[in-house]
Amino acid sequence: MSLEEKNLPFDEYVYNDKWRSRTIDVKTYWEYHKRSIENLEEFWASIARELEWFRPWDRVLDASNPPFYKWFVGGELNLSYLAVDRHVKTWRKNKLALIWEGEPVDQAGYPTDRRKLTYYDLWREVNRAACMLHCNFGIKKGDRVTLYMPMIPELPIAMYAAWRIGAITNVVFSGFSADALADRINDSQSRLVITADGFWRRGKVVRLKEVVDKALEKAPSVENVIVYRRLGLNDVPMTEGRDWFWDRAMAGVPHNAYVEPERLESTHPSYILYTSGTTGKPKGIVHDTGGWAVHIYATMKWVFDLKDDDIYWCTADIGWVTGHSYIVLGPMLMGATEVMYEGAPDFPQPDRWWAIIERYGVTVLYTSPTAIRTFMRFGEEWPRKHDLSTLRIIHSVGEPINPEAWRWAYRNLGYQNVAFGSTWWMTETGGIVISHAPGLYLVPMKPGTNGPPLPGFEVDVVDENGNPVPPGVKGYLVIKKPYPGMLHTIWGDPERYVKTFWSRFPGVFYAGDYAIKDRDGYIWVLGRADEVIKVAGHRLGTYELESALISHPTVAEAAVIGIPDPIKGEVPMAFVVLKQGVAGTDELRKELRQHIRNTVGPIAEPGQIYFVTKLPKTRSGKIMRRLLRAVATGAPLGDVTTLEDETSVEEAKKAYEELKKEVS
Ligand code: WT7
Repeated sequence: MSLEEKNLPFDEYVYNDKWRSRTIDVKTYWEYHKRSIENLEEFWASIARELEWFRPWDRVLDASNPPFYKWFVGGELNLSYLAVDRHVKTWRKNKLALIWEGEPVDQAGYPTDRRKLTYYDLWREVNRAACMLHCNFGIKKGDRVTLYMPMIPELPIAMYAAWRIGAITNVVFSGFSADALADRINDSQSRLVITADGFWRRGKVVRLKEVVDKALEKAPSVENVIVYRRLGLNDVPMTEGRDWFWDRAMAGVPHNAYVEPERLESTHPSYILYTSGTTGKPKGIVHDTGGWAVHIYATMKWVFDLKDDDIYWCTADIGWVTGHSYIVLGPMLMGATEVMYEGAPDFPQPDRWWAIIERYGVTVLYTSPTAIRTFMRFGEEWPRKHDLSTLRIIHSVGEPINPEAWRWAYRNLGYQNVAFGSTWWMTETGGIVISHAPGLYLVPMKPGTNGPPLPGFEVDVVDENGNPVPPGVKGYLVIKKPYPGMLHTIWGDPERYVKTFWSRFPGVFYAGDYAIKDRDGYIWVLGRADEVIKVAGHRLGTYELESALISHPTVAEAAVIGIPDPIKGEVPMAFVVLKQGVAGTDELRKELRQHIRNTVGPIAEPGQIYFVTKLPKTRSGKIMRRLLRAVATGAPLGDVTTLEDETSVEEAKKAYEELKKEVS
């Protein structure tokens, strides 16, 4: 859809009032929103009071040292207590917390590995794991623990165990390479790593422990490794005195162990999560305890409208922030029943997800545009095999959702009778910021929009100088006031925190996205305004991929860009200058692909690698990725006055055309 089309008027409104939502008009919504911003502190305090605090806060917001804002200062709480203990004191004690399904199926296609945990089960497991961490490994408040785990219940269990004793989690996505894992362990200086022998993915075993071993060759801070046996492999390499199987690590921990939850200050860091930026190594985004809990609790209610009879399923991986906020913390804060799935969406067939929704009667689904587009390609006969009529709310996240994908899902998954939105937020915001809110007030939906900002969030779209742009004009997305879930710093680098997020437009948070605001005040996020690319919703820095390429002995220089892809949203393309005397063969292309897989991870594998002898640069030596993007998408070059050597673009074009010929 073009900017003009997104521009006004846009009149395709789809109302939904099947499920308890109060639908209201936009004007009324904005009045409500305005009141929340005018009384920001009281607004958030009224939500925070619905949680249980060990000690109430003295101050809602301490803004004395911006941008180092502090939320609920003086308050004390514990996430593990809020998500688990609180429910076992009520009728929810034996309510199902987690329905977990492993990937393997029998011949009839029925899952063979399933586990169901009630809140009471969870409470016991979390206490035992907390005891293991604290009593057997000496983990204490403030220590960092790295988790490199598949999608199994022990991952949230281990996270709650860590948070119970005040340890700071550092979850690393299990698809990342040993190098990426080592970087994240080193930067966070973790004492302990928790992992698994492996997991199932598309019918194959993925071995994890070996990756950890490789990472630990470069990560000396780690004293111990705990290995959960997901697969029961009998040839897992174990280092004596350092590595322990989870069951052995539990030695001496009684079945009814109880560990008193630490009274943590609201500002105590709960987790670090590394994410890619424009330059340098991935940044360790740091989130607090109290602010994050309040933000997640509020958005669970507003956006997902979770009630006790709901069955909630977020299809993300816990290795990304979506999983942290909306698999691990959110549903459990609410005492909800949630589904968790280990494997691939298309195993053994492209209807696995629809079978899961039908099997458990899922009512609320949180997924990604990339997944929806993949299913579109498989065809609507797959969802049609199953009864999905239980679904009442669907949201997507991670990248813009194209209206065609929205319509496809609205029709084929939602039977044209669901609330369906695209929630905008990012690792840095900790929770959803712009979204439709069927649990609060549902304003008319428009396919492809993010909707208006949630109450309590002051969002705007501004021009180069930080001035708001009129409706329909493209600008930069900013958040103008602090909000509870916001990041607090970059681990070990507070200066970079200020520089990255608060310096582009002084005093406001710069998200790094392009967006437009329509006449109703709805936000349409268009994509990144920086050198970050989104591959299947996963965030990658072009700089990271370039460094990975340059670390290969044959590569002199590299420039990576993202180009649009119908399924993945974007794919990376690499332009590579080889060292003198090295021939650019297909063999080498293969080797470089493998090198990226090894150093960053399989998700970062470039769609194509082009060999050139020089890169387009400005006279000051800056790589002009914009021109490479134009070459690879066939777009006009635009302004080339700062280009130093025009033949560089000609050469890139030639390299591009040649490979295109080969493919077709
Ligand atoms: C970037 C943040 C937040 C969880 C997953 C991604 C893009 C995210 C949307 C959306 C358009 C979106 C933005 C943002 N993004 N959600 N609904 N519509 N764009 O977290 O990896 O930190 O990435 O994802 O570009 O800046 P993340």
